[in-house]
Amino acid sequence: MPDIILKNITKTFDEGRVIAVSDVNLTINDGDYVFILGPSGCGKTTLLRTISGLIQPTFGNILLDGKDVTDNPPQSRSIAFVFQDFNIFPISVWENCTYALNVQGYDNDYIIEKGEEALKIVGLEERADEIPIGWGNGDLQRIGIARAICSGAKILIMDEPLGSLDPKIGAEFRWELRNIIKDSKLTAIQVTHNQEEAMAVGDYIIVMRDGKILQQDSPKQLYRFPNSLFVGNFLGGLNILEGYINHINPPVNYTTKIRLGGPKFDIISEKVQYELDENVVIAVRPEDIYVFPNEYDFDASETNWEEINLFDAKILEKFLTGKELVFIIELDNGDTLRVVKPEVFKYNLSVGEKIHGGIFSKHDLRIFKYPKNLQKEMDLQ
Ligand SMILES: Nc1ncnc2c1ncn2[C@@H]1O[C@H](COP(=O)(O)OP(=O)(O)O)[C@@H](O)[C@H]1O
Ligand SMILES: [Mg+2]
Repeated sequence: MPDIILKNITKTFDEGRVIAVSDVNLTINDGDYVFILGPSGCGKTTLLRTISGLIQPTFGNILLDGKDVTDNPPQSRSIAFVFQDFNIFPISVWENCTYALNVQGYDNDYIIEKGEEALKIVGLEERADEIPIGWGNGDLQRIGIARAICSGAKILIMDEPLGSLDPKIGAEFRWELRNIIKDSKLTAIQVTHNQEEAMAVGDYIIVMRDGKILQQDSPKQLYRFPNSLFVGNFLGGLNILEGYINHINPPVNYTTKIRLGGPKFDIISEKVQYELDENVVIAVRPEDIYVFPNEYDFDASETNWEEINLFDAKILEKFLTGKELVFIIELDNGDTLRVVKPEVFKYNLSVGEKIHGGIFSKHDLRIFKYPKNLQKEMDLQ
């Protein structure tokens, strides 16, 4: 049975002047590890707090395990909240971890069993008696997670729990956290500002904007098939080209040609749902653009070039960012594209050099209706 269902959840503040969450419908299944991504102020924290019962929705219902809990207090929901600032007290690790069970008056044997289990899961069983003053952020968050597990909650709600960790520690800890969640069979919802973290360890990602859910999908699906320019761009920069549909073949062969602005530059795509002459935006990921030296012999290769949109270009810039080699290339019409290749790339291309570029239409090219305001659509804030 699905564990968490939100029905038409809306939360407004200031007598309705601020709509923090707007008519959200969402199902999260038992055992899922779900991430919420979105720009600052889009309603992520408000949504988490509403699910956990820390705040009441203005409209809508929350069902846990099929039961409507909208009016029930947080402590009745079997949900534990893990905070970004840890919320750890200057008392022993053990006391931090078992605090809630003590307050709720559980008997001692039960508290000891739960406390030991939780500290073992996060790897702090040897340090139960220590007072965590001066501890690193990673260890402090371990206590926060142990406390959540200790409470017996089946659902973990985490608001940027790795946000204040050193990036390297955070990148390692994310896997540990995933293992803890999966081993303990918890359902977890986590807000992060780190797309890479969500893509790496999340079962599903929810992308929010302006209080609404734009898309909910697996990381792979979201990355390959974003349902909007905003989602695609948010999940790791898109190259954007503006154009219009200038040719649609009869239905035998569903090719569509898109002409980009300025001098002629056609891009051939799969069938699209747009009309002739309609303005569109073409989006391509930097790692999906091929580049070849000018003298590359296409005929000598076994690739079926018909499926690849080839075009002439020139290298404008070239630089290394850690493990990646970045080229900025300029098309004949003046548009520029960002191309990302592995640090060790088979062609040695120099700035100023003429090259051939290629985009594989079937898989690597997304076509979107031209938005009302392209700049706003691409704005990640
Ligand atoms: N208690 C509150 N009173 C008034 N406005 C609030 C309150 N909490 C959040 N908001 C507003 O609701 C919107 C969403 O906030 P929040 O959920 O914190 O976003 P996020 O976590 O995505 O950054 C913002 O415009 C914020 O200013
Ligand atoms: Mg927030």
